[in-house]
Amino acid sequence: MVTGPDSLFVTLLILLHTLPSESVKFEVLGPTEPIVAVAGDDVILPCYLKPNISVEDMTVDWRNLDPIDDIFYRYQNGRIILEDQIPSYRGRTSLFKEELWRGNTSLKLTRVQVTDDGLYECLIQSKDWYDDIKIQVLVKAVGSRPVVSIEGHREGGMGLVCQSEGWHPEPDLVWLDSKGVSLSAGPPETHRDLKGFYTVKQHVIVQETDTNLFTCRVLQKRINEEVETEVHIPSALLNYTTPWRLSFIVCCCLGVITVIGLALTAFCTCKKTENDSNI
Ligand SMILES: *[C@@H]1O[C@H](CO)[C@@H](O)[C@H](O)[C@H]1NC(C)=O
Ligand SMILES: *[C@@H]1O[C@H](CO)[C@@H](O)[C@H](O)[C@H]1NC(C)=O
Repeated sequence: MVTGPDSLFVTLLILLHTLPSESVKFEVLGPTEPIVAVAGDDVILPCYLKPNISVEDMTVDWRNLDPIDDIFYRYQNGRIILEDQIPSYRGRTSLFKEELWRGNTSLKLTRVQVTDDGLYECLIQSKDWYDDIKIQVLVKAVGSRPVVSIEGHREGGMGLVCQSEGWHPEPDLVWLDSKGVSLSAGPPETHRDLKGFYTVKQHVIVQETDTNLFTCRVLQKRINEEVETEVHIPSALLNYTTPWRLSFIVCCCLGVITVIGLALTAFCTCKKTENDSNI
């Protein structure tokens, strides 16, 4: 009588030999290319059996391998098992019940979140066979049109800052002159919010050019998206060299503020008089 690992090996061999005929074997198929899902939309992750036999008495597991590594959907013996489902998937997952009898176990994921991005596994097990497929899901979110703000005079030029939010994956930001030549800018600043969206921001100092047009472009090559904003900075602001110009600009601004202030005071006084006269 053999014992220990050897006996286990023999048992396995016997089991393999006594497996029922070829007909119970199946292959699990799915997409070979990554699936691109748009944040906020619904997506179908394809997964099906070849041959197209019913999975109604099999176990279908959908697992997020990266970054979570946990089963978030299980179908077993005709029941959906959602105990201990990963909270972020709650209420967003379903199989197509009418497709199960022909081996289609594609998963519908609704209201895609940026955090759904990653590698998925569709694993199908019968009593004596199993196979799986892995699917890469890329969640795409195109951010806002860049907002450019003027920061004022810096180191002999005009300081500008550009910001764009709501991106996934992380985009690149470039500052360009009117000829499309990239300008040397400050270090890119990236921030990721709790929902996984990226905000990018970058400062630049520009000098006067023949057009005074500057472009901030934010692009993400993997999802083939880019958005840009072009700004024109008036020459009067750019070629500022002497303090009197600054004084002039400041005076203008103060002038405007004073006018607004006066207008408001006048308005309030009128209102007050009106109110007083109403009493
Ligand atoms: C199963 O596949 C065969 C060929 O592979 C096809 O003719 C048949 O229509 C399919 N059955 C269903 C229910 O989809
Ligand atoms: C599986 O079902 C889904 C939803 O009805 C459908 O979009 C998909 O084409 C089906 N896949 C196969 C291989 O039949």
